[in-house]
Amino acid sequence: MSEGYRGRYGREESYSDDVIFGADASRKDPRPQDPGPQEGPGRHTRPGARGSAVSSGPFVEVETVTKTYGSGETAVTALHEVSLSVPPGEFLAIQGRSGSGKTTLLNVLGGLDRADSGRIRVGGADVTAMSDDELLALRRDQVAYIFQGFGLLPILTAAENVGIPLRLKGIDPTDREERVRAALAHVGLEQHPNQTPAELSGGQQQRVAIARALVGGPGLLLADEPTGQLDSATAREIMDLIGRLVRETGMTAIVTTHDPILLSLADRVLEITDGRLGESP
Ligand SMILES: Nc1ncnc2c1ncn2[C@@H]1O[C@H](COP(=O)(O)OP(=O)(O)OP(=O)(O)O)[C@@H](O)[C@H]1O
Ligand SMILES: [Mg+2]
Repeated sequence: MSEGYRGRYGREESYSDDVIFGADASRKDPRPQDPGPQEGPGRHTRPGARGSAVSSGPFVEVETVTKTYGSGETAVTALHEVSLSVPPGEFLAIQGRSGSGKTTLLNVLGGLDRADSGRIRVGGADVTAMSDDELLALRRDQVAYIFQGFGLLPILTAAENVGIPLRLKGIDPTDREERVRAALAHVGLEQHPNQTPAELSGGQQQRVAIARALVGGPGLLLADEPTGQLDSATAREIMDLIGRLVRETGMTAIVTTHDPILLSLADRVLEITDGRLGESP
């Protein structure tokens, strides 16, 4: 992938972005965004949203993607000719009621599931043409997930969970330890590296999951109702954290949510209804 999609952490932090993203992380200063042809002028467009200093093309491009589960009378078309274009650095929220296709969309975008037809490009690579091994590499190198249910491995400590993406990348233990420490500090969990998920609160578990998502320096963050299992005060903290990190890193983020505050943090909000994607009303 292009390293240029990665951004920087704020200078006020006690460690450098190189620690989290590796020494090759390039710089991208936030600057006011020209809405451009891809970005609807809807009321959800946030003034001052980040623009791309790197590429004029979209980071995520979806063309007429359809996905049907089952066959015959029981067939359910979860995605119906969905098209979508997401510029680098955009924080896009997708809302829709239960069963509308939100999870299916994130899964086909991140290579966890395959579309039946249509084309998906992430960082210029054609995801729909990838072999299983290439999809694995995509998930290892470019895409990070945050799930509603946190998705932490229960027998591992917080630090070990955060270190998983770095292990998969073959980062050596010393470097890994430093980057894990920095990532945990960035989500406010520096005091809890050795606790297992069961020993952490829901909000703390989601912070671990966020640290794990960010530690490998992904180009694309996919978060599926990341605050859905949290009380409203904790959800607010987690939403603020995600919004801040997305902005600081310059990664492209697609988040499904019903949460009005998370929606308000996004650069753009789209609505999915029965597998069809459109502007939010
Ligand atoms: N593995 C599957 N097999 C069969 N049908 C499925 C499968 N996964 C999803 N579906 C169906 O596809 C449609 C879209 O499901 P999806 O999980 O994407 O919705 P969602 O918007 O994420 O819902 P929720 O808000 O409840 O998480 C639903 O009708 C669902 O029943
Ligand atoms: Mg879902």
